[in-house]
Amino acid sequence: MSIVIRGGTIVTADQTWQADVFCDEGKILAIGNDLDVPSSAEVIDASGQYVMPGGIDPHTHMQLPFMGTVASEDFYTGTAAGLAGGTTSIIDFVIPNPQQPLMEAYRDWREWSEKSCSNYSFHVAVTWWDETVGKDMGTLVREEGVNSFKHFMAYKNAIMADDEVLYNSFTRALELGAIVTCHAENGEMVFQLQKKLIEMGITGPEGHPLSRPPAAEGEAANRAIRMAEVIGLPLYLVHVSTKDALDEIIRARNAGQRVYGEVLAGHLLIDESVYQNPDFEFAAAHVMSPPFRSKEHQDALWKGLQSGSLQTTATDHCCFCAPQKAAGKDNFTLIPNGTAGVEDRMMMLWTHGVNTGRLTPQEFVAVTSTNTAKIFNIYPRKGTIQVGADADIVVWDPEATKTISKDTHHQNIDFNIFEGKTVKGVASHTICNGHLAYVDGDLRVKPGTGVYIKRPAFPNTFNALQKIAARNQPKVVSRS
Ligand code: URP
Ligand code: ZN
Ligand code: ZN
Repeated sequence: MSIVIRGGTIVTADQTWQADVFCDEGKILAIGNDLDVPSSAEVIDASGQYVMPGGIDPHTHMQLPFMGTVASEDFYTGTAAGLAGGTTSIIDFVIPNPQQPLMEAYRDWREWSEKSCSNYSFHVAVTWWDETVGKDMGTLVREEGVNSFKHFMAYKNAIMADDEVLYNSFTRALELGAIVTCHAENGEMVFQLQKKLIEMGITGPEGHPLSRPPAAEGEAANRAIRMAEVIGLPLYLVHVSTKDALDEIIRARNAGQRVYGEVLAGHLLIDESVYQNPDFEFAAAHVMSPPFRSKEHQDALWKGLQSGSLQTTATDHCCFCAPQKAAGKDNFTLIPNGTAGVEDRMMMLWTHGVNTGRLTPQEFVAVTSTNTAKIFNIYPRKGTIQVGADADIVVWDPEATKTISKDTHHQNIDFNIFEGKTVKGVASHTICNGHLAYVDGDLRVKPGTGVYIKRPAFPNTFNALQKIAARNQPKVVSRS
């Protein structure tokens, strides 16, 4: 299928200019004015609209088995919903059970994700440690195109990685030239607070944020950052939700450490008052970790994004419907953690970022696509509009409006945390690998058309880092 996008304004992270874009065989083949293209090419009239790189959501959990159930959104419905919102790639997570071989879990996720209709890739979680885990990490990096390993510092007695696991996995990742990522919350602190709150009779969703105070996130962020400093490798903190964690990132970056931070659209736009709602279904639908926070933290997160201390935006899309959330009716610790948003992220970021003047359109492109592509080493194949890049493009109508609702969204969940919010600025067309996947409300997708993205390791960065790491290692001092 060949497509020409005419009359739009191209926006990348570095440049804004007016030109046509011609795509064929899944690639951007030409950019220029009055392009001469085959008469068979489908023409998209983008006048008055922006032509931007398709969104990349670096944090989703399609059909995740978690907390005794399985997320309701599968790889087909979830990637389709992403395309409806202008997101053309996701990076999901392989999460092995403790003692499960990484490669076995990886194969399970690759099988489940075959029905994806957008591009997809995987971070692989390290949830336990022995030598076979280190060996599988090598296979994943060298043969499967995995360049990032995830660590959950929370979820004790399930998938939590303790300091020993973190140390071993970080050390191995450095050898392999892979980046490490962390869910930073002190899992022991959360576990103890959960027990205490239940004993006190606080069993409803209002107990959820009380069991996960900002300090628990700040402590874990600092621990992960310090461990990465000593071992000497880059670190990416997922879903930074507090000023506490952000301050640790800023400190480390000012000290010259390569630390990156991701923020969720939900954490920027929803505050902790949702947990006080007396309607269990409503409050439980917002139970995710880390929880939604106070306005003070939200303001700090916006500033972090604007200043570049936080580089990426994501959703942590992890859907559980009301009957699944009901598992925690009498005990908030049993409510499956997760909320949705893969379809809404770009619209919410544009409306509350660009339309408010917090972000320029170029900065919007950086935080919704380009920075993720760079950090996870798929740039410029993804994350920009240039000749030779994959034809993953969103045509964005900055004047179009829409009111978000569970009744009209494409996400496979019976709730939307942004319910009733009106956005201005929506995807009119989404092109994924050169195929027109979404046109003004019409999804044109088929299961299995998505492409698995291999992400190479970072040998150059790591050569430099290993030199720095060597300086941080204990020295043998002669006692002569
Ligand atoms: O509540 C959340 N975030 N659920 C998904 C797992 C995780 O912590 O990312
Ligand atoms: Zn998490
Ligand atoms: Zn997550």
